[in-house]
Amino acid sequence: METAAPSAVIVAIDGPSGTGKSSTSKAVAAKLGLRYLDTGAQYRAITWWMITNGIDTDDPHAIAVAAGKPGIVSGTDPAAPTITVDGLDASVPIRTQEVTSKVSAVSAVPEVRTLITELQRSIAASAEGGIVVEGRDIGTTVLPDADLKIFLTASPEARAARRSGELRGKEATDLAATKDALIKRDAADSGRKTSPLAKAGDAVEVDTTELTLDQVIECVVTLVEEKRAGRQ
Ligand code: DC
Repeated sequence: METAAPSAVIVAIDGPSGTGKSSTSKAVAAKLGLRYLDTGAQYRAITWWMITNGIDTDDPHAIAVAAGKPGIVSGTDPAAPTITVDGLDASVPIRTQEVTSKVSAVSAVPEVRTLITELQRSIAASAEGGIVVEGRDIGTTVLPDADLKIFLTASPEARAARRSGELRGKEATDLAATKDALIKRDAADSGRKTSPLAKAGDAVEVDTTELTLDQVIECVVTLVEEKRAGRQ
């Protein structure tokens, strides 16, 4: 595996949905002048491509055969992260309910994970100055040598409330349904065979249930700064 420049700091932020992972990761990267990679967006992008190209997302073999076809490109500016598939902006369609309901099945296919993991490692290796990478298996599988690993958690109630807030105005926001869907997706992501959602042994766990977003950001910024100071 290639490694980034010696002064570059690599931060892995994992955890289930609704823990504030994306907002925290983006803000930490922006504050510290790091790049930012949303790996969930990449799995959503490949899922969107499968749907729009008529691949049966319940057929792991069909997914595996097609996995190498879409060209996924992630822009890593934390102020304006982008995602394109075969040159098309996919940032809006990857957030639909249809993609959300199918992404766990697509991302559980080992061939998909191998390809996306390689892409993630090459992006991290070429990120000058360092990068914050958020996902489910970053600390355990994608970047096991990351300088700092954070695992964000929150109660299912808090996570469902946050997700409902994000969806407001876009899709149905029934809290109970959101909580059920979220628990189901986390169970699928945690239970899959290949690189499931898991806390790395050397990750720092931050329970965000009772914290504001600003408090979580401050906590992670402090941890990164401590890590950087310790390396000088
Ligand atoms: O973070 P998100 O909700 O946008 O992620 C969408 C899905 O992608 C999630 O349900 C599981 C999958 N995923 C994954 O398997 N591994 C990652 N590193 C990131 C996301």
